[in-house]
Amino acid sequence: MSGHFIVFEGIDGSGKSTQAQLLADALEARGLAVFRTREPTADSPAGKQLREIARHGREGVSLEQEIELYFDDRVWHIEKEVAPALHRGDVVVCDRYWYSTAAYQGALGANTSKLAAQSRARFPDPHVVVYLRVPPEKAFERISQNRAQLEKGYEKLDFLKKVFERYESLVEHSWLVIDGRRGQKEIAADIAAAIFKKLSEKDQDLS
Ligand code: ADP
Ligand code: TYD
Repeated sequence: MSGHFIVFEGIDGSGKSTQAQLLADALEARGLAVFRTREPTADSPAGKQLREIARHGREGVSLEQEIELYFDDRVWHIEKEVAPALHRGDVVVCDRYWYSTAAYQGALGANTSKLAAQSRARFPDPHVVVYLRVPPEKAFERISQNRAQLEKGYEKLDFLKKVFERYESLVEHSWLVIDGRRGQKEIAADIAAAIFKKLSEKDQDLS
């Protein structure tokens, strides 16, 4: 596959959607074809079920069933959308990937390391993981100021702290770890510089 697969990870309110969009804009401004996407998807049967669960709560759905839905959605997403985009040569910019399952469903009680091992065996490695590191208290403040979703159990501070710990346990040497406490523009400039460097290294490897 000739494209480049970039995923954004971090707790709710860490700035993933904001930064994924700013990176996509910067790549497009340089004339690159970008496929901007996210998980859970809105289009697969499993993705639709996950959105229902997000709206109405997870009563009656076991953690194992929820994990299976995320996995099924991911299989669909890779096969139907990500792989074709990479074959076209696009830069794929994806908001969340399997690390989210390892961190979130891990925080809900599943075994994070086991989920990571299963995912590594089952899903293609991204070229870059951009991890926005923001303390849970700060991310929670952002969400509370800006969203009407405060009531969602998910986004309560205690839960975010658990998710944050899981992410920290997943960090690998290869990740692009970004201090997400700073202003949006400063963060975006750092990410764009690192990604353009990686893309030019890849071009040199190919020439
Ligand atoms: P995520 O996708 O990780 O949940 P968002 O990009 O949706 O995060 O950002 C969450 C909220 O924080 C939004 O209201 C957004 O405008 C705001 N935000 C994003 N980045 C920053 C930043 N660097 N500093 C302050 N607020 C930010
Ligand atoms: P997202 O759409 O990124 O939420 P938001 O725009 O509110 O930040 O993700 C929705 C929720 O789904 C988020 O709280 C994290 C959760 N999630 C998991 O629990 N496991 C997963 O594997 C994924 C991809 C998301």
